Amino acid sequence: MELSLRKAMVAAAVVVCMSGGGLGAQEMPKEIIISAEADFMTYCAVCHGRTGIGDGPVAKDLVTNPSDLTQLAKANGGTFPEDRVQKVIDGREELMGHGTRDMPIWGNWFKFIARTQDAEGADEITSEIIVSLRIQGMIEYLKTIQAK
Ligand code: HEC
Repeated sequence: MELSLRKAMVAAAVVVCMSGGGLGAQEMPKEIIISAEADFMTYCAVCHGRTGIGDGPVAKDLVTNPSDLTQLAKANGGTFPEDRVQKVIDGREELMGHGTRDMPIWGNWFKFIARTQDAEGADEITSEIIVSLRIQGMIEYLKTIQAK
């Protein structure tokens, strides 16, 4: 991880802690959204396509068409369905197209891993913060690709 991104993540983590988890786009460091865009290309684009419209290379072989992620706000009366998207990513809302909560297609990337590396448990807290930043970052990134 690049140093500047690490710094931004730490800065954002502090904001997340102070705000009790909620982090709006205004406070979201630009680096986190760039990082989420990279996550999107790695974990989502193969089905949803690079632009999110649902035309990824494996889309035609799927039983269910991947949703057009640029239409999420439009389909929800103009408001981005943040709650639902959050649940879809963190696994509370299971979609067959994404595997299962235990085995999502994106592996452990958006999962809180309750594993610590030292007796104090410091790393467990870090991983939870990093994961919520990844999820919040993905939500903010998806907001940027919404059709007007
Ligand atoms: C293996 C293919 C695949 C990958 C990879 C994938 N998706 Fe999906 N996604 C689908 C399919 C198929 C659906 C529609 C499933 C359904 O309606 O049951 C879907 C639906 C969704 C929805 C629901 C949209 C709605 O209408 O509510 C969201 C949000 C979503 N995906 C986000 C993501 C994100 C974010 C990623 C990457 C982290 C991702 N998906 C990766 C196949 C995939």
